[in-house]
Amino acid sequence: MLQGKKILLGITGSIAAYKSVYLVRLLVKAGADVKVIMTPAAKDFVSPLTLSTLSKNPVLIDLFAEQSWSNHVMLGRWADVMLLAPLSCNTLAKMASGQCDNLLLAAYLSATCPVVVAPAMDEDMWLHPATKINLQKIESFGNRIIPVEKGELASGLFGDGRMAEPEQIVQYLLDNFFLTRPLAGKKALVTAGPTYEPIDPVRFIGNHSSGKMGIAIARELQQQGAEVTLIAGPVQAELPVNGIIVKKVKTAAEMFTACMGVYATTDIAIMSAAVADYTPMLTATEKIKKKEDGLMVELTKTKDILKELGEKKRKGQVLVGFALETNNEEANAKEKLVRKNADLIVLNSLNDSGAGFGHDTNKVTIFGKEGQEFNFEMKSKQAVAKDIVDTIIRLYYA
Ligand code: CTP
Repeated sequence: MLQGKKILLGITGSIAAYKSVYLVRLLVKAGADVKVIMTPAAKDFVSPLTLSTLSKNPVLIDLFAEQSWSNHVMLGRWADVMLLAPLSCNTLAKMASGQCDNLLLAAYLSATCPVVVAPAMDEDMWLHPATKINLQKIESFGNRIIPVEKGELASGLFGDGRMAEPEQIVQYLLDNFFLTRPLAGKKALVTAGPTYEPIDPVRFIGNHSSGKMGIAIARELQQQGAEVTLIAGPVQAELPVNGIIVKKVKTAAEMFTACMGVYATTDIAIMSAAVADYTPMLTATEKIKKKEDGLMVELTKTKDILKELGEKKRKGQVLVGFALETNNEEANAKEKLVRKNADLIVLNSLNDSGAGFGHDTNKVTIFGKEGQEFNFEMKSKQAVAKDIVDTIIRLYYA
């Protein structure tokens, strides 16, 4: 993935430097040629020996012990990308003001390649106006900033300031510098999970959809470069936290409104949610008390989101629906494809054991509006998501 790419990794004095060890490992494993520069303070946090062993290159620290100034200049010219991870508050301030009291800063000031930083600091420091100004300043120099994460901090407090995880940093480099992704610049909309239609404040009509398929599709679209909005009903599965815009909804009506809000600017819409077809006509404001007789709940039809999107579809938009069937699978799926004006419909049959709701696997057939049919084996939902997204790319973006 990063075969032959030259990464100059600057490590500064921060507890998060322990993550840099794994970061070097990941970069080397991906095929990159990695050279590490540490600030003198970074040595207190992580061993140069470990880093030189993993990077297979000497670790550079001292401004004056190195052979010559031109070496420092050459480091910045050698690299395809200079990555500072973790970036401490102190080094950030020095970068912003152009100071040069160590080798890392000398290489930074000499770098002709793109510079990316992954800051790490405690929340108070992160939120300080001085930090904000310094970040804005280096951003104005053209440096890129990988956002910090929320979580447990070295101080023991919880908040913003954690360095991004090494996997995300590698992904950031791939996304921004080394990969041309087929869906780069495209916007995608995915619905996932069930909807809950309230009967009263404690009861609802729902279904067994876990949301796993839609979440896997959202992740795959993101992997292929799309900017993804995931509109999720009340799912059991864990929702993505990075890089995907997640909108949580409960009812079919809320899902409809959320979809309409983004559809106009969407290139690809994949409706994998199991939207309730009916909702109670009235929702009781108080809990309905048990009576001797039966209980009638009058239902009214929800809006068919896929169908409404199909009616609004403009040229160039790709609309994909799902069909979950128990009988006459193929005929029903093809009928839905036409009736809802979709471009593709993904059929999963509840007759296939291991497919459909709740499972980690799925078996699908994709029908296209030009009469195409693509059959796939039983696979993990992430692999099925890849098949679906690859089919879209092959048909519409190759
Ligand atoms: N769908 C939707 N909005 C609804 C109902 C369904 O967007 N109110 C979408 C689903 O997300 C899926 C497709 O329509 O992509 C097919 O859903 P399904 O329930 O199988 O089809 P229905 O049209 O509801 O037909 P039926 O229940 O009669 O099979």
